[in-house]
Amino acid sequence: MSDGVWAAPGRVNLIGEHTDYNDGFVMPFALPHTTVATVSRRNDGVLRLHSADVAGGAVELRLDDLEPGRGPGGWTDYPAGVVWALRDAGHAVGGADINYESTVPTGAGLSSSAALEVVTALALNDLYELGLQRPRMARLCQRAENEYVGAPTGIMDQTASACCTEGHALHLDTRDLAQRQIPFDLAARGLELLVVDTRVKHAHSDGEYGKRRAGCESAAAALGVPALRDIPYEGLLAALDRLADPELRPLARHIVTENHRVERVIALLEAGEVRAIGPVLTEGHASLRDDFRVSCPELDLVVDTALEAGALGARMTGGGFGGSAIVLTDTSQSATVRTCLSEAFASAGHKAPRIFPATPSRGAGRVS
Ligand code: GLA
Repeated sequence: MSDGVWAAPGRVNLIGEHTDYNDGFVMPFALPHTTVATVSRRNDGVLRLHSADVAGGAVELRLDDLEPGRGPGGWTDYPAGVVWALRDAGHAVGGADINYESTVPTGAGLSSSAALEVVTALALNDLYELGLQRPRMARLCQRAENEYVGAPTGIMDQTASACCTEGHALHLDTRDLAQRQIPFDLAARGLELLVVDTRVKHAHSDGEYGKRRAGCESAAAALGVPALRDIPYEGLLAALDRLADPELRPLARHIVTENHRVERVIALLEAGEVRAIGPVLTEGHASLRDDFRVSCPELDLVVDTALEAGALGARMTGGGFGGSAIVLTDTSQSATVRTCLSEAFASAGHKAPRIFPATPSRGAGRVS
């Protein structure tokens, strides 16, 4: 008998990419795919982690030994990092037996790591009655990923997994974590959003992410603002003129135009013009490909093929260098788009992509 079961979803990001470490706007929604944790408390200061999806049996760690940089590496660093972050923030978390089982595709840029972190934080928050609000839990999960795992990611993925609600995309201001749930009902409009997992992850992705982040911070410093979010869209051209380093200009241009695209998408959704967000998504892809340079041939092939096949818009989603793209299409056109994508990947000699429609689903919660 366990003490309870919790679930946390993966996410896709509709628009607002690489803006979260620039204090900018993002707009993810939760996938129906979740990581489920079956958890029991234990009183001997031991954390026992087991995954039904990973060969190799359970890993046992002593709570007192948890320290950034000392994890064994691999998937257990994520939940162990969460326990470390909770305890380091002064929360009285004891031992636990946790068994995980996940339907979130791994390595696909769909935030399987955030799902693993958030389900762990939520379960321990309930079991040890820590009384933490979800945005705070997300922040601690991000700290686990940044400091314990060592990946310099932003706050989007953890907040999406913790705070999204069914039928909505989450408009998050990553500066103050202010949230708005934006209704995003595709089926009512005869639309579908396809997730296309390219099933590639280019090896240099982690290092490149850190370089983009450092580049954005240098651009903000050169412009004398706390973050690129502080450059208004109307002030973009003047700001670009002031940036002497030609490498930094396209990075700044992407962030400023991308924040503006988030605002445009929200305005269109609020006006009920869901189809009209398609071209804005596609513009976002061009900006990520040409200015921010985080796309790759497989992601570009998804976007180009989907648009040729009649999709309304398409873009890479998540960090880039592989992973997944999203495609907005009329439901009546969806089968054609899928067939064209499969054929294009086959004739380019790529692995067959995994394609599925995504509906905005609920965020993390207790199952039983
Ligand atoms: C990854 C990171 C996020 C965010 C995206 C890009 O998913 O984990 O914090 O930076 O890339 O938008």
